[in-house]
Amino acid sequence: MTKLAIIGGTGLTSIDDLNITKKEVVQSPFGAPSGILQTGELFGTQVLFLPRHGPSHTIPPHKVNYRANLWVLKQAGIDTIIAVNAVGGIDADLLPGQIVIPDQVIDYTTSRTNTFFEEGLKEVVHIDFTEPYCNGLRQKIISVCDEQGITYKGQGTYAATEGPRLETAQEVNRLERDGCNIIGMTGMPETALARELDICYACIAVVANQAAGRSTETITMDMITKNLNEGIQTVRQVLSKVIPLI
Ligand code: HPA
Repeated sequence: MTKLAIIGGTGLTSIDDLNITKKEVVQSPFGAPSGILQTGELFGTQVLFLPRHGPSHTIPPHKVNYRANLWVLKQAGIDTIIAVNAVGGIDADLLPGQIVIPDQVIDYTTSRTNTFFEEGLKEVVHIDFTEPYCNGLRQKIISVCDEQGITYKGQGTYAATEGPRLETAQEVNRLERDGCNIIGMTGMPETALARELDICYACIAVVANQAAGRSTETITMDMITKNLNEGIQTVRQVLSKVIPLI
């Protein structure tokens, strides 16, 4: 049975190496997920792939049905997820194309349904979220990066912002004062929902741009797409070595 899923973000709406054996249209009690579930063989292992923004990259971060996505993956028997997320780099040494394996997240989102535990409860539920990412999985990704001589940051705090607009320069300064190293719009509530479902979840964040105000360049979608291409090659290299370890 397939136990591992990859959730692809901007720059990863499909995986060329995935040998697709099954495509399934699925529904959830929370509505439709971002797209069909694709099962296939990836680097010798059965995996399930779901592009977070839909197959044609049309679902913006604040409109992703995170609960539907996580619920259908759990129903499919998934117990481990590697999420790939495009981010802006706050730290001066984080350059476009580099990857970060965050160990913490701060949630700045404002308009998203962020829990499965809200109705029909026998008792109120509070999950432990001290360590938001699955450390065992993070360490596997980190050891592969070391082995492969990849330039990466093995820890960092992910600021999950609402979007879809990018930040002001002063918002980025505030996030930095809060201790954040990278900014993205899709890290939450996805990470917390995975924990609610007891799924081991880690994130490979790909730096698409320097955060607002941190370079003189205007941040454009073209720039993000171009920079992500390079980073996604690194993600592919990491996946090819980490998937057989899971
Ligand atoms: N900010 C928020 N989300 C992002 C960015 C950014 O600079 N780049 C890619 N996703």
